[in-house]
Amino acid sequence: MNDFAQPTPHPTNAHPARVYNVWLGGKDHYQVDQEAAELAARANPTIVPSVRANRAFLGRAVRHLAAAGIRQFLDIGTGIPAADNTHEVAQRAAPEARVVYVDNDPIVLSHARALLVSGPDGQTDYVQADARDVDAILDAAARTLDFDQPVGLMLVAILQYIKDSEDPWDITRRLLDRLAPGSYLVLSHPAADVTAPEVAESMRIYNERAASHASATPRTHDEVERFCEGLEILEPGVVTLTRWRPEPADTPDDTLPMWCAVARKD
Ligand SMILES: C[S@@+](CC[C@H](N)C(=O)[O-])C[C@H]1O[C@@H](n2cnc3c(N)ncnc32)[C@H](O)[C@@H]1O
Repeated sequence: MNDFAQPTPHPTNAHPARVYNVWLGGKDHYQVDQEAAELAARANPTIVPSVRANRAFLGRAVRHLAAAGIRQFLDIGTGIPAADNTHEVAQRAAPEARVVYVDNDPIVLSHARALLVSGPDGQTDYVQADARDVDAILDAAARTLDFDQPVGLMLVAILQYIKDSEDPWDITRRLLDRLAPGSYLVLSHPAADVTAPEVAESMRIYNERAASHASATPRTHDEVERFCEGLEILEPGVVTLTRWRPEPADTPDDTLPMWCAVARKD
């Protein structure tokens, strides 16, 4: 069992999990996060609908994987618990589903109890780690997940925090290398080529207020597609959030600047 550390009381930098929490309408953030979130959303008014559409995509993708027989999930860049966390969606479809959550922000750790309330037939665990520490994540996840069986690897709105110079494509490939055939990658990522000026300005505002290791980089369709290299990308491909297998009541909105995809490892 993990220790539940408390975050620093008055941080000077905005942090991704807390800024995202502001946009989702949560209460777990500080003034520096609120200011970054509000100024960025003013520069790019699609941010709030995008983060909601991102959570909805996460739910549709997990339901799709559960229907395809996936019973294990590795969710890296979990975020502060919100409605419909991965294990809740997965266990509604498959009560025996096991989920390992990973995040590097102490505030997520301080909320981890909510993520550890698994249904009685399934299991959840929380790992405090940085996505750049691939081996540490895989070793810790192996306590809960059976790597001889397929896993749904969730990299949902996290890879933008890893710079090109840190090679997020290689990190993704090394994570996937350890997963069994039949595993899936679920991915979403801010777009550099949809409403580009607004995205660039909102990222500039956020990056000015974030620590260097948590600064964000939007990426183009081709750069996001490269994360799926060697995998079979499911229809409809790398698309904006509301275009990925929408529910009948969903309204498409191609102005939301995030790419997403689900891809299968053969
Ligand atoms: C934008 S939130 C996304 C939350 C959730 N995946 C979702 O889509 O609703 C990004 C999360 O990734 C975490 N994160 C950012 N960089 C990370 C890193 N290098 N390693 C682990 N987690 C990271 C942040 O702390 C934050 O909780």
